[in-house]
Amino acid sequence: MDFNTEMKERVTYIDEVIERYLPKEEGFEKTLLSAMNYSMLAGGKRIRPMLMLETYRLFGGEEENEIAPFLAAMEMIHTYSLVHDDLPAMDNDDYRRGRLTTHKVYGEAMGILAGDALLNYSFEVAARAFTGTIDIFRVARAFTVLTQKPGIRGMIGGQAVDVENCDQPIDKDKLDFIYQLKTGALIECSMMIGAILAGAEESKVDEIGEVGKKIGLAFQIQDDILDVIGKEQVIGKPINSDEKNHKTTYVTLFGLEEAKEMVKVLSLDALNMLENFPRKNKFMEEMVQYLIFRDK
Ligand code: IPE
Ligand code: IPE
Ligand code: MG
Ligand code: MG
Ligand code: MG
Repeated sequence: MDFNTEMKERVTYIDEVIERYLPKEEGFEKTLLSAMNYSMLAGGKRIRPMLMLETYRLFGGEEENEIAPFLAAMEMIHTYSLVHDDLPAMDNDDYRRGRLTTHKVYGEAMGILAGDALLNYSFEVAARAFTGTIDIFRVARAFTVLTQKPGIRGMIGGQAVDVENCDQPIDKDKLDFIYQLKTGALIECSMMIGAILAGAEESKVDEIGEVGKKIGLAFQIQDDILDVIGKEQVIGKPINSDEKNHKTTYVTLFGLEEAKEMVKVLSLDALNMLENFPRKNKFMEEMVQYLIFRDK
């Protein structure tokens, strides 16, 4: 099977897992539940759950069905971060995943609440793994990471420094800090959880987290590049959002060509690091290569 077909198959599988856990749109709070499902079902590359699943396989995990709550929870957290990122008070963008943004359809208050709800519900969903068959200590460790990496020293911390530094020049160190947290943290989180649930020892979990950091930084730099040269029809969100918000990015700091080179170097670093793991996962390596040249 070629890479693209394999990728499609995995997205279909992850979509199916996600749908299993989405709330039924009923009751007085129906609008909230519809708004949650609207963003979750808009598509998306599903890179984070996919990396979680592939890392689980890399470490020889064999109870794939049992990690499903974490796959769904991870995508809920990521999707909530996008719903809030697009709000008028943040990046103020009208399109996401090829559709009007949640706040454009449901209003700002419901956009805020749908984001909050997805975050909270992600923990509810992940907690179901406590009554599954995976070793409870593994589930507890994974759950702990799931609460930390999206948090104050992770994604949210990065988003806070990001919004605070619009309209002013920042240097590479600060930009790297922002990227490592706002984007790197969830990718790192996904890979660490995959490893933990498969029973990897602590040092290996840390090592795979380092791989996740490289992939995460490369991923955000490529996102900056696509904000300039991407096709809106393909990326499903507006281009030039960073310019509109006066953001410093890798493109403004280094120019397009150098930024592209940095994506490549970081991704090759990640691939080299993967060489040190006892098992191989060919699909995961192909994924990292695909991310270098992704056009969406
Ligand atoms: C977009 O993430 C936000 C970033 C962290 C760069 P993705 O590019 O993974 O967005 P979806 O999930 O495919 O929509
Ligand atoms: C977003 O960075 C990171 C998070 C949502 C946590 P961006 O603001 O660049 O993401 P896009 O370009 O809107 O997807
Ligand atoms: Mg943003
Ligand atoms: Mg944005
Ligand atoms: Mg962007």
